[in-house]
Amino acid sequence: MLYIGIDLGTSSVKLLLSDEKGNIQKTVSKDYPLMFPHPGWSEQDPLEWFDKTMEALKEITSGIDKSAVKGISFGGQMHGLVALDENDNVIRPAILWNDNRTTAEVDYLNNEIGKDKLSKYTANIAFAGFTAPKILWMKKNEPENFAKIKKIMLPKDYLAYRLSGTFCTDYSDASGMLLLDVENRKWSDEMLKICDITVDQLPKLYESYEKVGTLKKEIADETGLSADVVIAAGAGDNAAAAVGTGTVGDGMCNISLGTSGTIFISSKKFGVDPNNALHSFDHADGSFHLMGCMLSAASTKKWWMEDILRTTDYKAEEGGMNKNLGENHVFFLPYLMGERSPWNDPNARGTITGITLDTTRYDILQAVMEGMAFATRDMYEVAKSIGVCPKRTKICGGGGKSPIERQMVASILDITVDVPVSEEGPGMGGAMLAMVACGEYATVEEAAAAIIKVKEVIEPDPILVKKYEEKYQQFKTLYPALKGVFPKIV
Ligand code: XUL
Repeated sequence: MLYIGIDLGTSSVKLLLSDEKGNIQKTVSKDYPLMFPHPGWSEQDPLEWFDKTMEALKEITSGIDKSAVKGISFGGQMHGLVALDENDNVIRPAILWNDNRTTAEVDYLNNEIGKDKLSKYTANIAFAGFTAPKILWMKKNEPENFAKIKKIMLPKDYLAYRLSGTFCTDYSDASGMLLLDVENRKWSDEMLKICDITVDQLPKLYESYEKVGTLKKEIADETGLSADVVIAAGAGDNAAAAVGTGTVGDGMCNISLGTSGTIFISSKKFGVDPNNALHSFDHADGSFHLMGCMLSAASTKKWWMEDILRTTDYKAEEGGMNKNLGENHVFFLPYLMGERSPWNDPNARGTITGITLDTTRYDILQAVMEGMAFATRDMYEVAKSIGVCPKRTKICGGGGKSPIERQMVASILDITVDVPVSEEGPGMGGAMLAMVACGEYATVEEAAAAIIKVKEVIEPDPILVKKYEEKYQQFKTLYPALKGVFPKIV
């Protein structure tokens, strides 16, 4: 049997074809652009997501026995607002997770409605990228578009809708809308009222591993796949990545260093960070998780390498810097799109500090890579402060492929890093959710136990742990020192 996991990311859609044992047969990736129509805005065209997914679906199934494909599911970029009108036309480009236009709405929600109420209704407070503030933004700034809304959905749900005709979402992704009562897994009446929307404008809720339908006939005809192919609800990309790295059950941890960077801690029990610096969301295995999200992780390295140095030879560039781990005098704050966790500050900006006349390009690359790990440590510290302290973690995402970055993460967090055989977190997770929906495994935990293997273990290096502790204490002083400056320079 074959299963397809669709990872609907921010720079591309990546499809993965796997057998029921998790052996990856093929992967296909298609890029699409990210649009910044105003400073701080971030949008994409859902039609482009669908067109590229269809192209990739045809490519990944070409030359295989198509009748062996049994199920498809998703891991999708979270929080994006996709709004359809009465004819199912997309009303405006999707407003993405790293969009910062909603400062006024976040302020209204957190300060006028109040964080206590939001936390009681949803287990979370408002952040600029979350969906509810975007709905309020649309109501105020594009009333004609707001009036047209018949369906509100998240990015991957648009794919599920186009492929199966079912208007659906899953609990993990819905958690990031600030419309879901996360503890009780139902839409929050209070939040719907605050956002001036009704429940029929929202998708039906499913567990990530539940079947929502099968392939529409016209999609089956176009792709040559059977109309019996099961579509499972799927999950937000972080929950899907957690499934795809075996971060399920209680107290497991995954660090994802993709366009964004996240620390994801699974839990059987519902719990909330009293300061709401970490999100409290439902998990794709039917339980819960805490998560911190930095808005720019591997994207900072890509920016430095490709936009500034104009090279794609990551290996050569990293080769130049591999000498003074823990001794760099240069620091980089990775806030290229503002920052979510732990600062919740859309005005925060990327900063290079500590440069001198003898600073080299390699010192700056090293600072950028260390910045990813230091900012992950910031989120880990929040988890530790509320008594959640995993001693080992999985790692995935483009930024986690570098052995140097892995050692930085291990030594800066003082945590053991397990590298899974498949580093295709959300795609693998999507395929596994489809397997559960098709009955290959009874539960997500069972699928993870059978499929996920670790290929390498990286222990923190005691000498580096000591050196990096000192450096982290220095890093930690930079954001508070600059916080007041950022709003003046945006
Ligand atoms: C999580 C978040 C990001 C996106 C990236 O809260 O906003 O990790 O899901 O696709």
